[in-house]
Amino acid sequence: MSAGARPGTTASLGARPIKGLILSGGKGTRLRPITHTSAKQLVPVANRPVLFYGIEAMANAGITEVGIIIAPETGDEIRAAAGDGSRFGVEITYIVQDEPAGLAHAVLTAEPFLGSDPFVMYLGDNLLQGGIEDLVKAFDTSRPDALILLTPVPDPEHYGVAELDGDRVVRLAEKPPQPRTNLALVGVYMFTAGIHDAARAIKPSGRGELAITDAIQHLVDTGARVEPHIVEGWWKDTGRLDDMLEANRLILETIHPSNGGDCIDSSVDGRVIIEPGARLERSAVRGPAIIGAGTRLVDAYVGPYTAIAEDCLVEGAEVEHSILLAGAKVRNLSGRMESSLLGRNVVVERDEGRQPRAYRFMVGDNSEIGIL
Ligand code: DAU
Repeated sequence: MSAGARPGTTASLGARPIKGLILSGGKGTRLRPITHTSAKQLVPVANRPVLFYGIEAMANAGITEVGIIIAPETGDEIRAAAGDGSRFGVEITYIVQDEPAGLAHAVLTAEPFLGSDPFVMYLGDNLLQGGIEDLVKAFDTSRPDALILLTPVPDPEHYGVAELDGDRVVRLAEKPPQPRTNLALVGVYMFTAGIHDAARAIKPSGRGELAITDAIQHLVDTGARVEPHIVEGWWKDTGRLDDMLEANRLILETIHPSNGGDCIDSSVDGRVIIEPGARLERSAVRGPAIIGAGTRLVDAYVGPYTAIAEDCLVEGAEVEHSILLAGAKVRNLSGRMESSLLGRNVVVERDEGRQPRAYRFMVGDNSEIGIL
């Protein structure tokens, strides 16, 4: 059977199955305060945890054995969210990485699960529009030792950066201050078993991590064939707020409208999903947008590119280009809220009639508030 199989069949390279490894450990420092209490891979994009898109990409490429790297602090909620994988059509094995010591350290931690099989490694906070089927097919066709995904970006200093010579990768650098090209390493890689020795051979980087970029460079230096695959379609690393909002926008562009809620004296225009049990009263929703189950909109306007999770309330307020996590409440705002990410059970409300008139906050560490 060849690689890039359809769901229901198992992807393989020769006689070996291709396994999947999704990295869902780490600390998520750039999405604090949301990640003080929750794993960044569970922040929802169009009301689904970003991690689920990676698991689905594996399933669509015919990969059935998926290992998920988890951190001790956030592992339980990732287990609870993704379960045994059966609902995605894969079998999930959870692998605890004791400390976030780098992407190559994560590979070494997963070695007992991976054995000597080839595998796709997928960073759990990444979203790739076209999935990974093409990648798996390309790997099957040219059989390199490793295959990396690249895409041109305007700010390569924030990523791993590659230099090419024709169809070979010749040099890689992790977040170089002065990048030599604009080709960023996308967080999806295909490896053969040689990556384990490479990960063992390298030393921790200046940031104290075993970097996968250095392990791939070691493959190049020892004569292994590392091939590039340029990504077509969009790719997002959702590790920062702006990227998360952008990913939300891109996924909402693709949703199929449906209405399972109650709409009373309300209007719904464009691409909108209203989940069962949601209720709109004297409100307007202009898509693309998604309104979660049990959420209430009262005298509200919800504008394009907004994802509101379950059991939220928007009352007497306007919200646009934002993500609200479960249980968030936005009430009586005089200005429109936009480009915002509200964590679970967050309340943003205008104090009416209460004296003295003042801003009153209870805000966690690393929160950001913009005031009109
Ligand atoms: O998104 C693409 C970039 O991802 C690449 O261009 C870089 O070369 C690559 O190093 C990586 O950089 P990031 O700074 O974005 O990596 P981050 O620390 O955000 O970790 C990526 C994912 O892996 C994230 O879901 C957390 C998880 N992780 C991270 C570390 C350091 C682990 O599971 N274990 C770890 O030890």
